[in-house]
Amino acid sequence: MPRRSLSQRAPANDSEETMHHRTTVIGTGAMGQALAIALLDAGHPVTVWNRTRERADPLVARGAVLAADVVDAVSASELVLVSVLDSAAVRDVLDSAGDAVRDRTIVNLVTGTPGEARSVADWAVEHGADHLDGAMMAVPSMIGSPGATILYGGAVDAYHRHEPTLRTVASDSPFLGVDAGLPALYDVGLLTMLYATMTGWLQAFAVVGAGGVTAEEFLPHARAWFDNVVVAEDTAEVATSVDRREYPDTVPSSVALNAAALRLLLQVHEESGVGSGLVAAISALADQRVAEGHGADGFTSLVEAIRTPARN
Ligand SMILES: NC(=O)c1ccc[n+]([C@@H]2O[C@H](COP(=O)([O-])OP(=O)(O)OC[C@H]3O[C@@H](n4cnc5c(N)ncnc54)[C@H](OP(=O)(O)O)[C@@H]3O)[C@@H](O)[C@H]2O)c1
Repeated sequence: MPRRSLSQRAPANDSEETMHHRTTVIGTGAMGQALAIALLDAGHPVTVWNRTRERADPLVARGAVLAADVVDAVSASELVLVSVLDSAAVRDVLDSAGDAVRDRTIVNLVTGTPGEARSVADWAVEHGADHLDGAMMAVPSMIGSPGATILYGGAVDAYHRHEPTLRTVASDSPFLGVDAGLPALYDVGLLTMLYATMTGWLQAFAVVGAGGVTAEEFLPHARAWFDNVVVAEDTAEVATSVDRREYPDTVPSSVALNAAALRLLLQVHEESGVGSGLVAAISALADQRVAEGHGADGFTSLVEAIRTPARN
């Protein structure tokens, strides 16, 4: 069945020009508010809907139109951004919208698993909508400001059609691929890095703290170490090594050498009485590689122990 044109979708009281830019934001929590404000500030007409109606009042005061229900909200704009709590809430919203999503572009900005994102995409396509998934790698205060990133996947034509509007809320809005699960997968990867790195800092503060050094005293040395050594490591070389499953002992040095250093760290942590779980986990990965006969490989070969955990 041929798709209707944009002008056929426009409400009678909206010009085609306005319809082109009108955007609906469903869910006006912290993120939804930030998205709607960025769009309004950029001059886009915005329609909003929120389960708890009063929570949308500040946006109405700024010029947004409050939709009476989800069907009205989806009907108001070709581009519909969904920013509710989780994937179960997305399904509640979309079930309420039903066939009103036909010929709309539904952008699911909710944090979820890759599987949940694909399931929302399947639902949208079955109901005649284009679908994009977006992973918001930002906090609300960053939305609409330089530095905000939202990663997209799904319907490539819809992405290109709406790219200027999407870049209003996040100037860095790359398209990862047609698999709607990709943004959530990248989100998992990036958050894994964030939590592991942040916890590394906290672990270091705790162990030096147990020795009487404050975090503020330690910070300048930690910062220089982090900038000059930790992130100075050639990450392109690490990525190539991981993809090729080849682990030269120069990237960055051998497992055996680092396994010995990790045992030392573990000893000091245990002697000082601070929690040693993080260091013990890394030490166990290195010991596993040594036990499997890979002590002479580069440290990046620990990825093999992560890919195939030891069973004991
Ligand atoms: N905040 C952040 O820093 C941040 C960063 C990156 C990604 N995210 C993601 O962005 C999404 C929104 O986060 P947020 O910070 O805006 O959360 P929030 O402030 O807690 O707002 C949650 C929103 O979801 C709505 N909601 C919850 N259950 C619903 C349901 N069953 N049906 C309809 N609406 C429902 C709430 O409506 P009511 O007002 O009626 O409760 C509210 O509008 C989440 O997936 C979050 O993981 C947030």
